[in-house]
Amino acid sequence: MAIRPILTPQAVAAAAPVPERLFDSGPALNRVCRPDVWDDPEWLGVLRTLGLRPEVVHRKAFEWAHCIYGLERLDALGPDRTVLGVGAGHEHILYHLANRSRLTVATDLYAGRFVDTPAAEADPDFLREPEKYAPFPYREEHLLALPADGLRLPFKAGSFDVVYSLSSIEHFGGHEMASVAMQEMARVLKPGGVACVATELVLEGPANEEFFARDVFDRCVVAASGLVPVEQLDDEPPPRELFDDPVVIAENIDRNPHIVMGDGDLRWTSVIVFLRKPTVVETAMWGAASVVQRGRRHIAELAYESRRNPPRFLRKFGGGGGGVSV
Ligand SMILES: C[S@@+](CC[C@H](N)C(=O)[O-])C[C@H]1O[C@@H](n2cnc3c(N)ncnc32)[C@H](O)[C@@H]1O
Repeated sequence: MAIRPILTPQAVAAAAPVPERLFDSGPALNRVCRPDVWDDPEWLGVLRTLGLRPEVVHRKAFEWAHCIYGLERLDALGPDRTVLGVGAGHEHILYHLANRSRLTVATDLYAGRFVDTPAAEADPDFLREPEKYAPFPYREEHLLALPADGLRLPFKAGSFDVVYSLSSIEHFGGHEMASVAMQEMARVLKPGGVACVATELVLEGPANEEFFARDVFDRCVVAASGLVPVEQLDDEPPPRELFDDPVVIAENIDRNPHIVMGDGDLRWTSVIVFLRKPTVVETAMWGAASVVQRGRRHIAELAYESRRNPPRFLRKFGGGGGGVSV
């Protein structure tokens, strides 16, 4: 029942206020993948900037375009900014980020089972010849590729303005490892910096170690990070007809729209969130709020205990003379 003396980043983040929506206009930043985002002209403009075809309604395109859309709206990119991609493979947006940052560092194992997948996401070739995968011209000296484990990032705390990871943390070895990866991303982020993470959200059916049910996502990805969501999650699911006729990898992988995935009773799609690392001032403010909240909870627990079992309460807290000291 004692108030813990050490304030963890998780406790500080839990005391931070999180608005329902950060911006009055445009698609929500923290959201489940739904085709309605393709109706927004500004968002479509970002998709086109990335050289992607607007008629292809695919959750991969959603992750890439939405990551850039959100980072731009949050003013997180620019010529003085440093960006880290975790489990990045040779993904498309690395090249865009190289054009929109001082330095973008791509990290991945660049080994293991993703070397031989159809998209060869972790092809170690990328380390030697990143230009080979470039979808458009980019500033070669602003993109650096390094082999690195997302569970032990080889960077000092507070190194990057932006850290992002798309479709990767679910492959790091289960939900607990996803939490470790989130804490690593938070560690290497500068105070005030922005993280963007996309992963697999279970819409229906049984969860498993690679996908996140909503409560597991909230706990193991968002809360575990110790970062603060820029807004609440817009978790409205995609239209029902996409659940009823989902994309099944072995049967219709090229389906358009490619939004809801299915395997037996399981339905899932992408979820993406933007999180901020508190500044020093915010840490002090929300840290104080967290202590007050915990103090209130502690007093409420004491009051409950005193009503539930007065003799025991007096024995425990009443001191020798039978009077309660608080
Ligand atoms: C589905 S791929 C996604 C790649 C890329 N983000 C994209 O969207 O194209 C998952 C990636 O996670 C990487 N990965 C798996 N475990 C990792 C770890 N412990 N540390 C870093 N990357 C890892 C894989 O090598 C692979 O490139």
